[in-house]
Amino acid sequence: LALYQRTGQLTGKQIIVSAGGTVEPIDPVRFITNRSSGKMGYAIAQAAAEQGANVTLVTSSDLPAPAGVQTVHIQSARELLAAMTERFEAANAVIMAAAVSDYRVATPADQKMKKDAANPGLTLELVENPDILATLGANKTHQYLVGFAAETQDLINYAQQKLTKKNADMLIANDVSKAEVGFGYDTNQVTILTRDAQPETLPLQTKIAVAREIMRRVTEAVKD
Ligand code: CTP
Ligand code: CA
Repeated sequence: LALYQRTGQLTGKQIIVSAGGTVEPIDPVRFITNRSSGKMGYAIAQAAAEQGANVTLVTSSDLPAPAGVQTVHIQSARELLAAMTERFEAANAVIMAAAVSDYRVATPADQKMKKDAANPGLTLELVENPDILATLGANKTHQYLVGFAAETQDLINYAQQKLTKKNADMLIANDVSKAEVGFGYDTNQVTILTRDAQPETLPLQTKIAVAREIMRRVTEAVKD
């Protein structure tokens, strides 16, 4: 590790970040996922490592890991839940930037599904995935918990509801209906909600700049 990484304000702190979409199997060769690139979560992991934290990045993405960041690869929401739960007790802060699939296929097929000549359509039965952020929120003791909210309308209201309902300490809201914001882009424009302050809207900027702004606030909350 470079010297600056050992002398930042998060030296000795454990930060767990989740990033990217989850991958939910349909059969051995098919899956359900979403448009999340993982870039925002990777940027947050990088920003945390720059402050000297021990960073674990739990991800489905193949992006190269930022310097000094340990990665754990997962696919499904349930694998992500297990990976986060296992590391939660030791964490000082957890940032859930992953775009978790709300549903999974109830019973993935063991073998590749074949077309059925007698049946022109196909219906997949989906069941709801566990809510990882809400689960961590319900079980938190000392951890500072950060969630994201991707919305296409009524951004602040929905984000406020998620902050409260999931017992998070900070919620990063982004309007994914706007150009240059959210999924796939290198830039983002977010509004930061916390329990005790007014919502704060940051300017459109690169994801690494947004990540450093977020981590600056997380650092204030978790440093001694
Ligand atoms: N999240 C989670 N587990 C889920 C779904 C979401 O941990 N099963 C987390 C996401 O990582 C994010 C936050 O909850 O930090 C909000 O995700 P979002 O998809 O915006 O909200 P949902 O609660 O899933 O509600 P909806 O998609 O219906 O708006
Ligand atoms: Ca969702």
